[in-house]
Amino acid sequence: MKHLRIGFFSSHGGSNMQAIINACKEGYLNGEPCVVISNNPDSIALTRAINEGIPHFYRSQKTHPDFDDLDEEILKILKEHSVNIIVLAGYMKKIGPKVLKDYKGKILNIHPALLPKYGGKGMYEKNVHEAVITNKEKITGVTVHIIDEEYDKGPIINQCEVPVFENDTIDILANRVLKKEHETFVETLKAISEGKIII
Ligand code: GRF
Repeated sequence: MKHLRIGFFSSHGGSNMQAIINACKEGYLNGEPCVVISNNPDSIALTRAINEGIPHFYRSQKTHPDFDDLDEEILKILKEHSVNIIVLAGYMKKIGPKVLKDYKGKILNIHPALLPKYGGKGMYEKNVHEAVITNKEKITGVTVHIIDEEYDKGPIINQCEVPVFENDTIDILANRVLKKEHETFVETLKAISEGKIII
């Protein structure tokens, strides 16, 4: 049983992060939320970190204009908090090469579709669900994958389907998918900590 020391990167709402924090607090997940890093000083994710008493840092190209410095700074924060797994919970920025190298294979992202479908450039947030509805898909879903240099292309470690109904609006579908994301992210981390998914 591996104890996960989780570092979250989040730009906005952080609802996936909150679901994972809750699972840790309930003892469902053998993990500890160690630090939250956000590129957005006004993100709800940072407010959630404050409310939960989790160390949190606003770091961006505004605080560190040089991308390499920023990369180094983020790596330093992760090390200082003994993070052993990074969870990208709606993080809209590129991960620097130092963090990518140090945490190779240990950076997880969730995508609101069944990759490789509806991934890649421009495929984020509502754009994904809009494309799914426009293409009259009957099934969409969520994908947890490892992040490497290429976005949305790292190895997939878990996927779950979500039905698309005829009268779905983008918002209705987005909500249904987001709920599934919360569940899937927690289950994936649990499977990692129990050695059922090897990363
Ligand atoms: C989710 O839909 C996730 O798939 C995508 O960004 C959204 C983040 O939501 N990567 P939240 O910040 O976890 O609420």
